[in-house]
Amino acid sequence: MRIAIIGYGKMGHEIEKLALERNHQIVLRIDENNVKSITKQDFENVDLAIEFSKPESAFFNINMCFDNHIPVVSGTTGWLDNFDKLIERCTNEKQTFFYASNYSIGVNMFFKINTQLANMMNQHQDYEVSIEETHHIQKIDAPSGTAISLANGIIENIDRKIKWEKEAESSKDSVSVYSFREGSVPGNHKVIYESPFDKIMIEHDAKSRKGFALGAILAAEFIVHKKGFYTMNDLLKF
Ligand SMILES: NC(=O)c1ccc[n+]([C@@H]2O[C@H](COP(=O)([O-])OP(=O)(O)OC[C@H]3O[C@@H](n4cnc5c(N)ncnc54)[C@H](O)[C@@H]3O)[C@@H](O)[C@H]2O)c1
Repeated sequence: MRIAIIGYGKMGHEIEKLALERNHQIVLRIDENNVKSITKQDFENVDLAIEFSKPESAFFNINMCFDNHIPVVSGTTGWLDNFDKLIERCTNEKQTFFYASNYSIGVNMFFKINTQLANMMNQHQDYEVSIEETHHIQKIDAPSGTAISLANGIIENIDRKIKWEKEAESSKDSVSVYSFREGSVPGNHKVIYESPFDKIMIEHDAKSRKGFALGAILAAEFIVHKKGFYTMNDLLKF
């Protein structure tokens, strides 16, 4: 595949390394320094774009790819207000889009375990649930996209929970989410159920960014000749 990397930061570099190892080519690199000067011609030799940039630029970047009919894999978090507009473009214009708040295969297994555990907890009112996420100090958005996905998995399965809230505002009908920013932690998530009698905790701990990069490249290989909107459920067939 001839890949455009959009957002050439920590994830962009990791994706480049792994893409080259898998015999793909990087034909275009876009970051905040050159994004304003990109033209249609720059996309002529591009098969697909992988976008890991900033919350404020993801929507623009994905639209730019759609304008050039380039399939996009995006992992940028913290920007999803206008997400539905992109899904509409996907349907109406036969664009190709893959989005995941977390590309790690292990995290996606963790998502599955989370929903199954939540389903079991639905009838056990004694258990109060909370989520803790820890990331490196440069991470801009809080809670993490992964923590929000975990919270949504709980809300869909536990009738007494209707929303998630950051710790300070938490109440009985919400899932409390606690965010910590420490050192260079690539990503740690815990889902904790606590009753007056005991505590159950499930945890995922990323060792590096490589797992995210691999998932993004597998997603790219999966969609490059397809049309429509895809997620990790389609890739992993859980
Ligand atoms: N989905 C996942 O699995 C996953 C995993 C890790 C990180 N992330 C997310 O990916 C994003 C990037 O993470 P990172 O650690 O690489 O961040 P980073 O800060 O290291 O890199 C961000 C890059 O975006 C570039 N950028 C800024 N404005 C831009 C613009 N307008 N157009 C194009 N590029 C622009 C910057 O120049 C920089 O190179 C974040 O939102 C992060 O939360 C997602």
